[in-house]
Amino acid sequence: MDVGVLGTGHYLPTNVLTNKDMESIVDTTDEWIKSRTGIEERRIATDDIDSSDMAFVAAQGALEEAEVKASDIDLILVATVTPDTPFPSVACIIQDKLGATNAAAMDISAACSGFMYGMVTAKQFVETGAYKHILVVGVEKLSKVTDWTDRNTCVLLGDGAGAAVIGEVSPGKGILSFELGANGGGGDHLYQNENDHLVMNGREVYKFAVKQMPESSVNVIEETGYSKEDVDYLIPHQANIRIMEAARKRLGISEDKMATTIKKYGNNSSASIPMALSEAAKSGKIKDNDLIVLVGFGGGLTWGAIALKWGR
Ligand code: ACO
Repeated sequence: MDVGVLGTGHYLPTNVLTNKDMESIVDTTDEWIKSRTGIEERRIATDDIDSSDMAFVAAQGALEEAEVKASDIDLILVATVTPDTPFPSVACIIQDKLGATNAAAMDISAACSGFMYGMVTAKQFVETGAYKHILVVGVEKLSKVTDWTDRNTCVLLGDGAGAAVIGEVSPGKGILSFELGANGGGGDHLYQNENDHLVMNGREVYKFAVKQMPESSVNVIEETGYSKEDVDYLIPHQANIRIMEAARKRLGISEDKMATTIKKYGNNSSASIPMALSEAAKSGKIKDNDLIVLVGFGGGLTWGAIALKWGR
């Protein structure tokens, strides 16, 4: 059985924080942020909006596009490092809000690679015939774990949510190959501290990511039997344009074939890939039968990549 994406959805807070705004918060400049990261602005959720609120809207959009009723969802997987509370999970909160009464529900903690872990987990359940429809969401309210006095991290992060409904697709389409990995030994490069703030050793994370993203992208393509030239679109985790460029160049594809939502939204951790996927699908940047590479890395350290033949 081939397993793929039946529909996508996403949500972005309306509140925009530009690089100019950041200049009045920490000692930084628009020029520094743009040239080092590619970020121009980010979205920040207001106090009354938590991760489950954003996840709910993204999930509703994905269900609608997939033409799947909430009651037909068998499992909800929410990738997040910023849940409303450790428990109940965001997955359980949205299960109730959606009325997905037949769905099991749990959160996944794999930081920025979380959506990749969710998609791959969903594939296994559908492939075995255990479940038919799985809702996978990536959501982050990173603004609540941001240290707004730390210029090394606060300029990078933003809030948002993306979702996909996973199920059976036509032969030859869907998830063709995947790679997941972890290196717990690198955990101290990116973590949440005792004040609940995100702490990062930027240089170490950069070194890891700039090697891992290109490598995993090539690995999943090689496993499909397609060649790099066949790749139609690349959706990398939106952490830093220079890291993304490394993956793009390694695949040898042109700039217009890579999602760059980082400009407008910054780094949204587990939400960045599903948000970019949903935007690309809606804007027509990806079309039926396109070969897409999704690739992410993050805290843990973790990484994940998927080669996906688009369409139902
Ligand atoms: N404005 C101005 N200067 C700054 C800022 C800022 N916002 N932030 C750091 N600097 C300074 C540093 O203090 C440093 O100054 P110093 O040399 O006097 O100490 C200088 O800029 C250069 O710092 P570097 O670390 O060398 O800058 P670099 O070019 O490596 O860029 C960055 C830093 C953007 C963080 C980069 O290392 C990076 O992208 N790392 C990977 C980050 C990442 O991918 N994180 C993903 C995980 S987080 C998540 O996904 C939720």
